[in-house]
Amino acid sequence: MLAKVFSATLWGLESRSVEVEIDIARGLPAFEVVGLPDAAIREAKERVRAAVRNSGFDYPMARITANLAPADLRKEGSGFDLALAVGLLIASDQLTQETTEGICFVGELSLDGRLRGVSGILSHALAAAHGDRRLLIVPVENLSEARLVRDVQSIGCATLAEVIAFLKGTFKGWDPTSAPTMKAAVLPDLADIRGQESARRAVEVAAAGGHNLLLTGPPGSGKTMLAERLGGILPPLTEQEALQVNQIYSVAGRFSEVAQTVQRPFRSPHHTISTAGLIGGGRVPRPGEISLAHAGVLFLDELPEFSRNTLEALRQPLESGEVIIGRANATLRYPARFTLIAAANLCPCGRLGSSQPCSCTPHEIARYQSKISGALLDRMDLQVSVMPLTFDELSAPPGESSETVRQRVRAARQRQKERLARWGIACNAELRASQLKEACPLSKQARDLMRQAFENLHLSARAHDRLLRVSRTIADLADCDRIEVAHLAEAISYRQTPLAEGR
Ligand SMILES: Nc1ncnc2c1ncn2[C@@H]1O[C@H](COP(=O)(O)OP(=O)(O)OP(=O)(O)O)[C@@H](O)[C@H]1O
Ligand SMILES: [Mg+2]
Repeated sequence: MLAKVFSATLWGLESRSVEVEIDIARGLPAFEVVGLPDAAIREAKERVRAAVRNSGFDYPMARITANLAPADLRKEGSGFDLALAVGLLIASDQLTQETTEGICFVGELSLDGRLRGVSGILSHALAAAHGDRRLLIVPVENLSEARLVRDVQSIGCATLAEVIAFLKGTFKGWDPTSAPTMKAAVLPDLADIRGQESARRAVEVAAAGGHNLLLTGPPGSGKTMLAERLGGILPPLTEQEALQVNQIYSVAGRFSEVAQTVQRPFRSPHHTISTAGLIGGGRVPRPGEISLAHAGVLFLDELPEFSRNTLEALRQPLESGEVIIGRANATLRYPARFTLIAAANLCPCGRLGSSQPCSCTPHEIARYQSKISGALLDRMDLQVSVMPLTFDELSAPPGESSETVRQRVRAARQRQKERLARWGIACNAELRASQLKEACPLSKQARDLMRQAFENLHLSARAHDRLLRVSRTIADLADCDRIEVAHLAEAISYRQTPLAEGR
């Protein structure tokens, strides 16, 4: 007999519907799965066989064929187990086909018949809201995530037996047990930082316009401290951004880390991270750190310690705001529009640029600095040297608190929102080249200064555009419609790091 059950798979952040057909025919006992399944799905046969038996159902001793359609869609992950098991029970007359009408089944089975949570349930629920199957059966641990989508009826079950009981009308499904609610994390405050006025200001500009920031300087000058305080002065996520962030974390299987927060993500991966870990991808593709930082901040501390290939892979997403991952016969995309903040010493001993003598050879310095390519440096809008504090600075009273700075950032973001809404973008860093002329009008003197800077500093066209965006943000912080000389001059002062010398 033939059975037909529906499930879903992920393609990037999107959910795609998959039809699971099961046929049972006479012949030698065998279980064949066809339709571009990956290794995890082929292993599903063993899980389904054990789960069906251990849940008290009969496993047919016959020739079983499962087909996953459409055949040209690559199917990955273990979320088909439940649909395969339900199909098997229909095909072997232990359940009727009608009971599964209009239902989408997603979940992994363990050998004893328990249902295990899977990633991407939020995407499946969002897709179900616009599709024909408005009833979603999911593992109970994914239930609170599925219930975020109100237009879909989501049922949570803990075992295969409970799913069958639900279909037969003898079980109602669980309530979401521990709905993940996150308390807003207490973020470190800018008031902890003494001195470092220009670096503090650069952090404020970066937050206001979403610009990338590179902090360089000797050890112990406060680079890490400054970077960690960027998250605390950013405005909260909008509703739309929050949904997208939730979806990315759901697909990454880390939904509980962000559930229902409006705080912007702040990711600080260690420098030993692999390229796939940072950018995304892998055997079963997953969003990387840059996508987990979407709409928030990616902090790369000790930048030259990262592998050069890993850093180079950042270049394309930094420009386009998304990452494209190649698969066997197609490509998939994850959003990755983040603010990059990076910290680096200038040489291996770290003392270059400070008052202490540096013990590195010119060759060592060149090799260390060459980890950061000119192309990556070109994408750093703000480049700031952080100098060691003097004793007087260290004993000075604390500077402004994050709360005060956050208010200025919020006002500047509001100005940007009003100007940029018609292009569907939120902050100056997202301005496209074609929009710059209209969005960034320069005063006469500012235009003259721009010409001088372009020629004397040998700026690339990209650096010129990035300079314009930063000046726009500085003007927004000053509540000015037009970019004046002072705004542009400040933006230019942020492009003169010792790292760029000699390039
Ligand atoms: N501007 C500052 N105000 C107050 N404390 C500071 C400041 N700078 C550094 N410190 C103190 O020094 C410690 C080290 O600072 P931090 O880790 O930010 O240095 P760093 O520049 O990142 O150094 P490294 O190059 O070694 O990573 C801080 O935890 C803090 O106690
Ligand atoms: Mg540090």
